[in-house]
Amino acid sequence: MNKPALNYLATLFVSAFICSIILLSGCSDSSSDETPLTDTTPNNEPITIDTTTVKDGTVVETAALVSLGEKLYNDTSLSDPAGQACASCHTPAVGFDDPDSADATSLGADNASIGNRNSPTASYAAHIPDSHTILRTPVGGGVAFPVLIGGLFLDGRAESLEEQAKMPFLNPVEMANANESAVIYSIKLAVYAGDFETLFGTNILDDVNVSYAYVADAIAAFERSTFFSPFTAKFDQVQNGNAVFTQAENRGQNLFNGKAQCDTCHTTPNGDPQVFSNFEYKNIGVPANNTLDIALGAPANDPGLGGDTGIAQDNGKFRTSNLRNIDITAPYMHNGVFTTLVEVVEFYNTRDSGFPDAPEVPQNMDDEGAIGELNLTAGEVQDLVAFLKTLTDQ
Ligand code: HEC
Ligand code: HEC
Repeated sequence: MNKPALNYLATLFVSAFICSIILLSGCSDSSSDETPLTDTTPNNEPITIDTTTVKDGTVVETAALVSLGEKLYNDTSLSDPAGQACASCHTPAVGFDDPDSADATSLGADNASIGNRNSPTASYAAHIPDSHTILRTPVGGGVAFPVLIGGLFLDGRAESLEEQAKMPFLNPVEMANANESAVIYSIKLAVYAGDFETLFGTNILDDVNVSYAYVADAIAAFERSTFFSPFTAKFDQVQNGNAVFTQAENRGQNLFNGKAQCDTCHTTPNGDPQVFSNFEYKNIGVPANNTLDIALGAPANDPGLGGDTGIAQDNGKFRTSNLRNIDITAPYMHNGVFTTLVEVVEFYNTRDSGFPDAPEVPQNMDDEGAIGELNLTAGEVQDLVAFLKTLTDQ
């Protein structure tokens, strides 16, 4: 066994020892993620080891888990045929989106299948809450109604980042593995297979069910690292007092939170970090994208949330997108129908007042506020776009 591995094991033993002391003293908080464990160096200086409690309760060192997640995320041998990784459709250099924006949706590992949806950015996905329902009382009183919030994928069908990470490997229009065993088999052959054993135990890859869940845990941990959510956009610098908006950007921000009413949906509530989404589901009346090839599996009328819940009133609803890195993640909307931000803003501006294309799903459309009839001038459209461009990480 090499030296770092031994050191790591020694750290685990020390950690386990400290844990048992904490347990004996009755002040355990073992369920919380990122529990800092305190160790001491020979000089008695405290060092903190960040740990993560994965879904089955196993506690591992966060840095080691993130590093394993990064290797999995970038491994092109985990598709069938080999050649496609998570990073192929969520490439860090282009806002964690598909670098190929010639097609509205992404090409599968087989180089023939076309996905049915535009790949969203994986940046800031860690800030999308796990799927849950709240009860909301209507403005002015009345009977409270349930509102679905969060969940991963544009229709929220994966409850958490972990559940999401299990799916692309097996999706026939993505990485197209036949089953979980095929994925674990490829991982056994990978140079980092030993990392699994170090983290989760000897021969762990012989147990497909258990180790497949660890694959998802590791990828989710990597997606929760600051690499995916750096908050280094001009918007953040302005917030921190380290930059100032141009006049156009400033006007755009005021429009976003005022006349254009974008903040109704694109504001993160509860004082959580601002990623410009309330994570609720709406049908905003996006037009169909007639360039998507229905023969290759693209739905003619994508039911969105309704496809997942089976409830007709949910048809056409998609989760409000986060707007971080939006300038570099074209095309836009679940079907990639818009290629520029000016087109997007023009759509919101005129949807109900002269916009040429009918909605893909005309039922259940959101008609709150003035959306669709914003009366923005051409200059105001440009200002809004200037503001959206300040959301790109530097
Ligand atoms: C072939 C391209 C492709 C590959 C490969 C791929 N994805 Fe995706 N990803 C997509 C598309 C398309 C969606 C949206 C699908 C939907 O909403 O139904 C998506 C959605 C997501 C989301 C949800 C984002 C959100 O806003 O809800 C995350 C996170 C994500 N992918 C991470 C991954 C990970 C991790 C992998 C590797 C295990 C991966 N993707 C592999 C195309 C891809
Ligand atoms: C009623 C809620 C609502 C309002 C108001 C709203 N949006 Fe959206 N926005 C959404 C939803 C829902 C989506 C995802 C729709 C889809 O994928 O089909 C979206 C998607 C987007 C996208 C595309 C994101 C992507 O990654 O493809 C942009 C850009 C955008 N909105 C900008 C704006 C701007 C600018 C305004 C104000 C003019 C605005 N939105 C007002 C709900 C809203």
